[in-house]
Amino acid sequence: MTDITTAGTYALGDRTVNRMGYGAMQLAGPGVFGPPKDHAEALAVLRQALANGVNHIDTSDYYGPYVTNKLIKEALHPYPEALVIVTKLGAVRGDDGSWNPAQTPADLERGVHDNLRNLGLDAIEVVNMRVMGALHSPTEASIEPQFTALAKLREQGLIRHLGLSNVTSTQVAQARSIAPVVCVQNMYNLANRADDALIDELAGEGIAYVPFFPLGGFAPLQSEALSEVASGLGATPMQVALAWLLQRSPNILLIPGTSSRVHLSENLAAAELKLPEAALATLDGIGKA
Ligand SMILES: NC(=O)c1ccc[n+]([C@@H]2O[C@H](COP(=O)([O-])OP(=O)(O)OC[C@H]3O[C@@H](n4cnc5c(N)ncnc54)[C@H](OP(=O)(O)O)[C@@H]3O)[C@@H](O)[C@H]2O)c1
Repeated sequence: MTDITTAGTYALGDRTVNRMGYGAMQLAGPGVFGPPKDHAEALAVLRQALANGVNHIDTSDYYGPYVTNKLIKEALHPYPEALVIVTKLGAVRGDDGSWNPAQTPADLERGVHDNLRNLGLDAIEVVNMRVMGALHSPTEASIEPQFTALAKLREQGLIRHLGLSNVTSTQVAQARSIAPVVCVQNMYNLANRADDALIDELAGEGIAYVPFFPLGGFAPLQSEALSEVASGLGATPMQVALAWLLQRSPNILLIPGTSSRVHLSENLAAAELKLPEAALATLDGIGKA
């Protein structure tokens, strides 16, 4: 079994987590809507992740909706002390599967209580405020109303730490003037490098950066250079993509998503993959292409 601690740990609020974690979004049905295609396999994936040392799971009640949180509770509750579950707020799903903003103070309060109930928790360790922006990339706009509302829920003890998702550096600064921010979750991977400067900035502040779509998301990464590097190292392209992120910056925490135990094992094994300088140079070229 892979020793995922080889990839090291990083602080998430006042907790320390293994840098190799797991993202639960893929456990919901097609289009992140409805029940999983294989309920037993979904539970097995979650249990295998923990058995392999994962102690950081990313989720949201808008996956399904309510599907992934209920699966996490069914598979893992009562939770081990070391497990940090991070959820996010900011959207609700329509009956047609649409993703609709839910960012008023009342929406956020309802969302926190839904997450507490569906996960079976008295307080949520980390809640990310998911800003809408332009779908998967941020746009400049004030996030003061939403973040102030979440900060109030934190003061009530329902949330222990706050994070942000789909935000710019200016929005991070605005949020930090309201309450501490422990993590930022934006789209970033080998081929999408818009956040290079933000990652370095956050590293300097001790804030975790958690890339979503680390494998490319709904269209997993495909690149000749990536495949060549992978075959030269006896690894898979997905493993190389994850190892590259681990080597990119020490504040990067990984939450690759999968609905299969085979892919989970493959992804976790990236924690033990060290990329040589020549491979890093080739891979760097992918984001610049
Ligand atoms: N904050 C946000 O706005 C936001 C947005 C999106 C996602 N997220 C979070 O980020 C996490 C990761 O993102 P993601 O799951 O969307 O994308 P991802 O991790 O980049 O990729 C997941 C896709 O890759 C496939 N995959 C996984 N491992 C593989 C492997 N070893 N070989 C081949 N294919 C593989 C998965 O299919 P299989 O199921 O078949 O393995 C799935 O289609 C999510 O779980 C969620 O928690 C956050």
